[in-house]
Amino acid sequence: MIKNKKILVVGAGGFIGGHLVKRLLENNNIIVAVDIKPKEYWFQDYDNVKNHYSTDMKEINNCRKVTKDIDYVFNMACNMGGMGFIENNKAECMQSVLINTNLLIACKEDGIKKYFFSSSACAYNKTKQQSTFIDGLKEKDAYPADPEDGYGWEKLFSERMCRHFREDFGIETRIARYHNIYGPFGTYDGGREKAPAALCRKIIKAKKTNENKIEVWGDGQQTRSFLYIDDCIEGTLRLFESDYSEPVNIGSDEQVSINQMIDMIEDISEIKKLSRDYQLHMPKGVRGRSSNNDLVKNVLNWSFKIKLKDGLEKTYNWINNEMNKHGSNISRFTKS
Ligand code: GDD
Repeated sequence: MIKNKKILVVGAGGFIGGHLVKRLLENNNIIVAVDIKPKEYWFQDYDNVKNHYSTDMKEINNCRKVTKDIDYVFNMACNMGGMGFIENNKAECMQSVLINTNLLIACKEDGIKKYFFSSSACAYNKTKQQSTFIDGLKEKDAYPADPEDGYGWEKLFSERMCRHFREDFGIETRIARYHNIYGPFGTYDGGREKAPAALCRKIIKAKKTNENKIEVWGDGQQTRSFLYIDDCIEGTLRLFESDYSEPVNIGSDEQVSINQMIDMIEDISEIKKLSRDYQLHMPKGVRGRSSNNDLVKNVLNWSFKIKLKDGLEKTYNWINNEMNKHGSNISRFTKS
């Protein structure tokens, strides 16, 4: 694993960025951490980061200020969230193209050797995700292009920007297509939360208030695969160190319906079965999605380890603690 390097992590105040910084620090790397959020809203605190910056990396001059004397760059930054956010904020999501583009330009100017871009399963062609249980998406299924409107187009375009900076200017680029990453220190309320955290929160709340019903977006039969954060970080670092420069799925192939995931969370909470109020008008995204992991096994000799039930248990316990601490007050995990 990467050791004793000077690494810029952009989006260090967010969910995946926060876990990445923690892991890189454990390996004695020197970290320069950047996020658009004020420091008090970063999802994790670090004592031993060399520099923190709260700055907007959509501006090229802000990128130029932080790319000096850096070995490697991880771009984990974008304006994002679960379906509730990305479906209603397409213009906001697309502006993240400025972060990746300006950061790459600054990296080229400063001779950065290696650059990581966090892409998404939203880059995949929508027509391949129209039935509930689908074959896992293979990397080639992103083309012909018809990604998630707004957010997915930004990811696909930025993937190609990385490719052309590699081909034309020799910056080594690595690209992960993340499949719904979840776990502790992630958003669980406020509008940007993804389904695992949202449903844990709803079930915890039902338990605390003795309600017997939760709201579920869609009909509950839509499917996803969810990847626990520790697997995500391990896959990310392995990909970064590999010599593979095309996009790779970092995801799980344990495909479940939303109803099946709710069953698991109910078991974890030991609550009696709740009735489900299916909200068909709420954002649903694609009908079915899962990761095909043939390529990742082949090029990294690695695949995810943590089963959904186990990852949900850790996530549920963490959200439960946070809700006990904060009650209905806004915590940093409800802002973004
Ligand atoms: N967020 C949320 N909240 N989703 C719910 C809820 C709820 O209370 N109830 C049911 N769902 C359903 C959604 O309608 C959707 O069909 C499914 O759960 C998954 O929703 P999300 O977890 O919000 O998003 P996603 O899987 O469609 O996309 C997410 O993962 C992508 C990567 O795989 C997003 O975070 C994307 O930004 C990301 O790229």
